[in-house]
Amino acid sequence: MTKYVIKGGNPLHGTIHISGAKNAAVAIIPAALLVDGVCRIENVPQISDVTLILQILRELGADVRIVNRSTVEVDCSHIRNRQVPYELARKIRASYYLVGALLSRFGWAEVPLPGGCDLGGRPIDQHIKGFVAMGAEVDVRNGLIYARVPDRCRLPGGQVYLDMVSVGATMNIMLAAALAQGMTVIENAAKEPHIVDLANFLNSMGADIRGAGTDVIKIHGVERLRGGSYSIIPDQIEAGTYMAAVAAAGGEVLIQNVIPKHLDCITAKLVEMGVDVEEQDDALLLRRTSAMGRVNVKTMPYPGFPTDMQPQIAAALCVARGTSVLTEGVWDNRYRYVDEFRRMGAKIQVDGKVAVIEGVEHLTGAPIHACDLRAGAAMIIAGLAAQGTTEIDGIYHIERGYETIVDKLAAVGADIRVVTVPGEDMQSQVG
Ligand code: EPZ
Repeated sequence: MTKYVIKGGNPLHGTIHISGAKNAAVAIIPAALLVDGVCRIENVPQISDVTLILQILRELGADVRIVNRSTVEVDCSHIRNRQVPYELARKIRASYYLVGALLSRFGWAEVPLPGGCDLGGRPIDQHIKGFVAMGAEVDVRNGLIYARVPDRCRLPGGQVYLDMVSVGATMNIMLAAALAQGMTVIENAAKEPHIVDLANFLNSMGADIRGAGTDVIKIHGVERLRGGSYSIIPDQIEAGTYMAAVAAAGGEVLIQNVIPKHLDCITAKLVEMGVDVEEQDDALLLRRTSAMGRVNVKTMPYPGFPTDMQPQIAAALCVARGTSVLTEGVWDNRYRYVDEFRRMGAKIQVDGKVAVIEGVEHLTGAPIHACDLRAGAAMIIAGLAAQGTTEIDGIYHIERGYETIVDKLAAVGADIRVVTVPGEDMQSQVG
C-alpha cells in the first residue's frame, strides 16, 4: 500500500507549474475519434485518468504515440473495434464521452456505464435526452449504453434543452453533433473553461461550433474533421488546489501557466479571506503571512465557485478565524471527507448540502483515507497546515487528477513523501 506522509507546519515558498486540464483532456482525447488523420495534443497532464482513456482508444484500434511527457499523437483513422472494454470504461467517468464520439463518427456506440467519484447520484439522463433529440435510439441494459442512428450512419441533429447545467452532457452532445447532418442547438449549456477548450479543439480540426462559453451552443455538423495540433488549457482546479494550499499553509508561491480569468471565482474568495493574490500575465503570485478570516462559499456551475474546489477551500477554512458556511450547489453528497478532517481536530457540522466550519487554531496530524480525488487533495492541504504527521492512504484517487503532486509540493518546501508499506491498495472504481 502506498501512502503520502506529510509533516505539517512548513510555509510554502517558490514556484509551481500547472499542468494541462484533466477535465479538458479526458474529453479532447476521445474527440480524436471524430478525426480522420493524426491529432497532436499538447499540454496533456500525466495522470492516471489520461492513461486510462488512452488505453481505451488503443483497445479500439487507435494508433497512440507518446511524443514526450506532455504531448501525444492519436490517429483514429483506422478504428475497427467499436466495443469499449468494460473493465477500463467502468473505472473512469469520462468514458461516457465515447458514446457521443462513436455515435458521431460511426452512428453506433456500445459503451459500459461509466464509473466515477462517489458524489451522490450521477445520472446520465441529460446525455441520453440529447442524443435522442438529435435522432438517436438509446437503450441502457446489462450495464451498457447502446446508442444508434436508425437507418443511416449520420445523426440528423436537433434542439436540446438541458434540464440542469451539465458539463458532461454539454460536451457529449457537442461531440455527437460535430459530424451530424444538420444543426444542433444546446440551450442551458454549461460554460466551464473545458467546454470552450473542447469546442476550440474540434473547430481547429474543422468543426463548426459557435457559442461555447455561453449558455447557447450551436453546432453545424460537418462531413469530416481532419488532423492537426492542439494545446490543452491549464488546469483551473489544479491551480486552485495549490492556491488553497498556500492559503492554508502560509508562504509565498508563484503559480505559473494559468489563465487568471478562469481562477477569478477562487481568487475572489481567497482575497476575502485575507490572502494576497497578485495577477500576472499567465501566473498568480499568492502570499499569506497573517491569519485568515472566515467566508461563506456556495458552489455553482462556472463562473461560480467550482464544486471541484469545495473540499480544498474547506481545508483552508478549518484553520481560518471564525465560522464559515459552505453550501454545495452541484452534488448531493460531497462531504464524505468531513469525518477524516474531524480526526485532525476540525470542527465541522454537516446538514444536507450545508457545512458549518468553525475555524480552529491548528489541526493535528492523523492517519486518514482519501475517499475521492478532490477530497484527497484537500487532505493533503489539511496535512500541510496541521501540526504533526498526517498519513493519507487511498492516494490512487489523487493520482487520477494531479500530475506529480508530491514533487510539486516538495519543491516549494512541503515535507511530503511517498511511502510504500506492505498491504494492498483498495483500488476499485475510480473516475
Ligand atoms: C464533471 O462531471 C466533472 N467531471 C466533475 O469533476 C465536476 O464535479 C462536474 O463536471 C461539475 O463541474 C469530468 O469532467 C470528468 P455534471 P459531470 O454533468 O459532467 C446532474 C472532478 O473532481 N446531472 O456537470 O459528471 C448531476 O447529478 C470531477 O474532477 C443529472 O442530473 O457533472 C449533478 O448534480 C468530479 N443528469 C449536476 O447535474 C445528467 O444527465 C452536474 O453534473 C447529468 C448531470
